[in-house]
Amino acid sequence: MKLCKLLGMSALAIMLIVVVGCERKITTEGDGDTQFTDCFTCHGDEGVLLAARGEWQNSIHASGTSVDYTNRGGRDCTQCHNHQGFLEYVETGAVSAPYNNVSAIHCFTCHAPHERGDLSLRVDDAYTLKNGEVFDHNEANLCANCHHANYNVEVIADNQPISNRFGPHHGPQADLLIGTGGYEFDGEDYGSTLHASEENLANGCIGCHMGNPEAHDGYMIGGHSFNMVDEESGENLAGVCEGCHDMDEVEGFDYDGRQSQVDSLLDTLGTLLYEYGIVDDEFVALTDTVADGDAAGALYNFVLVEEDRSHGIHNPQYITDLLETSIAYMESALITKKMVAERYRPLAAH
Ligand code: HEC
Ligand code: HEC
Ligand code: HEC
Ligand code: HEC
Ligand code: HEC
Ligand code: HEC
Repeated sequence: MKLCKLLGMSALAIMLIVVVGCERKITTEGDGDTQFTDCFTCHGDEGVLLAARGEWQNSIHASGTSVDYTNRGGRDCTQCHNHQGFLEYVETGAVSAPYNNVSAIHCFTCHAPHERGDLSLRVDDAYTLKNGEVFDHNEANLCANCHHANYNVEVIADNQPISNRFGPHHGPQADLLIGTGGYEFDGEDYGSTLHASEENLANGCIGCHMGNPEAHDGYMIGGHSFNMVDEESGENLAGVCEGCHDMDEVEGFDYDGRQSQVDSLLDTLGTLLYEYGIVDDEFVALTDTVADGDAAGALYNFVLVEEDRSHGIHNPQYITDLLETSIAYMESALITKKMVAERYRPLAAH
């Protein structure tokens, strides 16, 4: 049996021989029962796996350049950036060592077909974010394991050290989707558009990013490509919004002009942060600076929304509220700063 398994894994071509040689191939031990699964439920000529492979090949999971990011400065990058690190993380909750030979996020990262004999997801438990809020949206829980803010916003305080690394780290989509993870100013109200919810999209991310692949040619968008837009042809997945919003006459995903609004709010906030003196003229935070808690919070919100990369769509209401309250704070902080400067100017002239 061992030998059969070994051969089975060595090459797809050998599969046939293995199948002829042994009656049943995959054994999964569960509750003392042994289940058997035939290779051809998945590896048939009809190719249930082929479409998924075609799509996956066009995904950034397959082609992204970050696969060999290993531990840097004691921080685990492998946990989210490659297959080996993620498997250890899922099993033990941590990553012990940098890996030397790593593979990209692929079929066996998200599924465990040869261990389980089916295509269920490797992990789908609710995921606790850095600030303690729980993300629980069925299959999308898998995505939340990697696509979450890698920083707890609640630790931001006065004399906050900032640098060009300050922020949630790329990919805070899970936090924003459920309306959490932003720096919330005291006394302000924050709403949330529950795109992920039982009434709307019960399986969160997947409802949009894996939607409708068969409606398009070339495996470029939807399904396992996870892409919302085919950068080459310009074709997009706005069809997934249709069921709930009237997308006629909408440019891309700019429903109700909300993406344009978010982009312009970001620009306004960036300019204010620049005038305040904590970012450069490209809105990148200055290194080796300290800021008061609220200004650091406004900067955090700027980076958070930028790195979310949906231009507001993951949570139009929460994202707009975060940007507007950050802008209001920075405007008053700038006035105070100018008043202080005016006041001391005559003194300085002496
Ligand atoms: C529950 C579905 C499922 C079953 C059953 C299954 N496989 Fe697979 N197998 C997969 C998937 C998914 C892949 C990855 C496909 C890809 O890379 O496109 C795969 C890939 C492979 C590969 C390619 C090498 C590799 O490791 O990437 C071999 C060889 C293979 N399977 C052999 C077998 C054999 C032999 C059996 C029966 C003993 C079997 N499989 C049963 C789902 C299954
Ligand atoms: C093992 C961690 C991991 C899991 C699980 C994961 N992702 Fe990713 N994802 C990444 C990383 C890392 C990148 C960036 C790769 C790069 O740029 O090199 C990425 C990239 C992406 C991109 C492309 C971003 C771009 O640049 O266009 C999308 C979209 C995406 N993921 C969606 C999802 C969805 C939806 C799920 C759940 C079904 C998911 N991911 C599950 C780690 C993960
Ligand atoms: C909690 C999971 C997680 C950890 C830990 C993590 N990343 Fe990422 N990283 C992601 C995800 C998810 C993306 C893709 C986000 C997107 O496309 O919006 C990403 C994207 C990136 C990108 C941009 C994509 C590219 O190839 O240019 C860089 C750079 C990056 N990460 C570097 C690192 C480094 C270095 C570390 C370790 C110090 C690290 N990451 C740790 C989840 C993580
Ligand atoms: C980033 C995570 C991720 C990766 C990588 C991934 N899958 Fe999936 N796969 C999913 C999710 C999530 C679903 C569930 C989609 C749904 O519920 O509609 C799924 C569903 C499937 C299904 C449909 C299952 C069914 O029972 O109908 C197949 C087939 C499949 N994947 C094959 C593959 C193959 C083959 C690869 C590699 C080429 C692959 N997957 C890589 C996340 C992933
Ligand atoms: C309501 C539909 C919807 C849901 C739900 C959703 N997204 Fe998105 N996502 C989008 C849209 C629309 C864009 C922006 C596309 C554009 O304008 O280029 C986007 C952009 C992204 C990007 C940037 C790269 C890209 O493909 O443009 C990543 C990464 C991403 N989403 C991951 C996720 C993850 C992870 C989840 C779940 C935590 C999620 N999304 C949930 C619709 C959605
Ligand atoms: C399953 C239903 C559903 C899907 C699919 C969906 N949405 Fe929504 N969306 C809602 C609900 C419910 C609200 C909150 C009620 C409202 O304000 O209209 C909302 C609100 C919004 C808003 C803010 C409200 C406004 O009028 O400005 C925008 C923008 C938006 N969605 C864009 C999108 C885009 C783009 C997609 C596709 C990528 C999408 N939605 C997919 C249900 C959905």
